[in-house]
Amino acid sequence: MLCDDNHHELRSQFTILGRTVHGGRQLVYLDSAATAQKPEAVLTTITDYYRTSNANVHRGGHALGTEATEQYEHARARVAGFMGCDISEVIFTRGTTDGINLIAASLGKKLGSALRGKSIVVSELEHHANIVPWQMLCEQTGASLRVIPIDEAGVISLEHARSLIDESTAIVSVIHVSNTLGTEQPVKELCAMARQVGAFSVVDGAQSVVHHAIDMRDLGCDFFVWSGHKLYGPTGIGVVAGRAEVLADLPPYQGGGSMIEDVRWEGSTYQEAPLRFEAGTPNMEGAIGLAAAIAWVQQYNRASVLEHELACTRRIEAAIVSHPAARLLGGEHAQRTGIVSFVVDGVHAQDLGVLLDEQGVAIRTGHHCTMPLLRHLGVNSAARVSVAAYTSASDLQVFEAALAKALRILTT
Ligand code: ALA
Repeated sequence: MLCDDNHHELRSQFTILGRTVHGGRQLVYLDSAATAQKPEAVLTTITDYYRTSNANVHRGGHALGTEATEQYEHARARVAGFMGCDISEVIFTRGTTDGINLIAASLGKKLGSALRGKSIVVSELEHHANIVPWQMLCEQTGASLRVIPIDEAGVISLEHARSLIDESTAIVSVIHVSNTLGTEQPVKELCAMARQVGAFSVVDGAQSVVHHAIDMRDLGCDFFVWSGHKLYGPTGIGVVAGRAEVLADLPPYQGGGSMIEDVRWEGSTYQEAPLRFEAGTPNMEGAIGLAAAIAWVQQYNRASVLEHELACTRRIEAAIVSHPAARLLGGEHAQRTGIVSFVVDGVHAQDLGVLLDEQGVAIRTGHHCTMPLLRHLGVNSAARVSVAAYTSASDLQVFEAALAKALRILTT
């Protein structure tokens, strides 16, 4: 657990957390799973980049161009070190959704008609970004989507996975930490099952990368995908880390400048990975800002930060279940990390969200981009509270009081 002084120092780097909303209410930001706030180090890195080094990368033969390229490639090296992979395996994207679309489109081109009659396996927990691109690929190719059920604790059932991942499976794509239930998934085992049948494996790490150290090699996945903005970095930047052997003969996603080796009217040839997957001017400030976010995260003991986030999670769960009409999604046995979703009998989540917001407390309400999961759980909307390294005891105290007040109003 971070001691109070350390935590105060950490939190003080997020200027936005000091602001008020609704005419003087102190902001209590409990929506970090949607997007995290950014420390000053990230903001300064981005403005410094524009003030001192802005130029297009991989093009200019001038001093600024060289500097910008060095910073951009340094950012790639920082990401590679963070994830335990090689620099050549790090592709910058716009975010998780863009990353999964890249993988689906490129695997679709590579496998083409061989996908007819094959299966693409996802789980019941997936958010729309890890469902819709695969549905589109199925429509294009004649593959079919298989969905692994979850158990009562909100974890993908390995027993069902064993029967659904078989010789017909071409791709297995699963979430690492559920953005709705906050539960961690057995992705290592699922990737091993994919490997056994010769299928490609994709791990959606949008939520897990925030809380857990990621080691691509240890997970054994072919692709690991995430977004910068949930890890205290800028929006519009994300990462696809792909295994070098897989990227080596994977066709490009988009065509344009930077990804080519030679262009002739008869046809074009392409760069090696990762540049083959980065057509056009990339998000330079995003990549450089993301490297600053990773450096910011790495200056703290990640195990202590996780312990702090888990303590916050337990306190939020306790506050919710102290209200008899409230029910945690994922049930009482779910092991949640940083994310707690719940419903209250007879109360619409949106009404609850509005009453909390009026008291300065920001949470997310709605379907959390997981409509199939919510349907499975028998609800169409839920309230979600999520924490980050900067969440404080005082935030939780205000949340507890605000929740009690909102439920008094809504249930009497
Ligand atoms: N995927 C993001 C969330 O869970 C937007 O809120």
